[in-house]
Amino acid sequence: MRHLLDTKTLSRPDALQILDVAEDMADTQQREVKKLPTLRGKTVVNLFFEDSTRTRISFEAAAKRLSADVINFAAKGSSVSKGESLQDTAQTLQAMGADAVVIRHSASGAPLTLATSGWITAGVVNAGDGTHEHPTQALLDAFTIRKRVFGDSSRGRDLEGLHVTVVGDILHSRVARSNVWLLHTLGAEVTLVAPPTLIPHDVSAWPARIEYDLDAAIAAAPDALMVLRIQLERMSAAYFPTEREYSRRWGLDPRRLDSLGADSIVMHPGPMNRGLEISAEAADSPGSTVLDQVTNGVSVRMAVLYLLLAGERQNDDREDAA
Ligand code: NCD
Repeated sequence: MRHLLDTKTLSRPDALQILDVAEDMADTQQREVKKLPTLRGKTVVNLFFEDSTRTRISFEAAAKRLSADVINFAAKGSSVSKGESLQDTAQTLQAMGADAVVIRHSASGAPLTLATSGWITAGVVNAGDGTHEHPTQALLDAFTIRKRVFGDSSRGRDLEGLHVTVVGDILHSRVARSNVWLLHTLGAEVTLVAPPTLIPHDVSAWPARIEYDLDAAIAAAPDALMVLRIQLERMSAAYFPTEREYSRRWGLDPRRLDSLGADSIVMHPGPMNRGLEISAEAADSPGSTVLDQVTNGVSVRMAVLYLLLAGERQNDDREDAA
């Protein structure tokens, strides 16, 4: 694997390999000493043009636990705010010897541009681009579902036969897009629930069922209900009458949590708007995987960095030997 840009083009064997390597990484994270020497001498640059808490910290923890050097670059306070282009920023990183670049950008397609421009030779990992994709989030979500449902017998398994329902701001969500593609690739059945205004205009090519009524979706007893944040910062118009109205019709309140049943898991990628799309009762319920998702995120990102960078080293060694 050279880059991880999306889940739409990620093959089933590659997806399963990432999830299985993440299982190995998770095992190492149970030890007292969590650090592995695997990526010693490699440099990972976190290039964040958009705000982030957990994703940036998660990539940083993942790289450090593999002993890579980490450079954190936030666009605020850098020369990007002086108008420096992505090309100049990228070429600067190249000159500093970056082996992998983890990029978050408000423009959909920025990671692809970086990977195909020829400006850098580093592997590129998409950490969220506009409303397009957020592949490591979908991978950690799949990992979390697999682990909750199959426990210790997760390795090698796909999600065939499972039903995942995603509710919320589908229109603005790169998490929803990456999840739809990956869950489909792994054999799960996907239902998307939102007000009509928060469903993209043309979803006919998406491998998912569309539903507008959350109670009906819950009555179908999904194995996992993934709640998405209402992305107020991406909304330039009114997509629903009031927050109260949204909450009443599409929020996971205590009554809906009850009817969901104890076997279904409740997911949220964070950050949560408690009281809007998800109630505190649901977020903190025994079925909630919100914190598992954060923990698993580190293992999944370790797996991705390992497969991108250690694989490359093996290839280099082979080339040296030839
Ligand atoms: C998501 C993101 O940034 O796309 N968050 C995350 O990565 N944990 C979802 C969101 O912002 O709502």
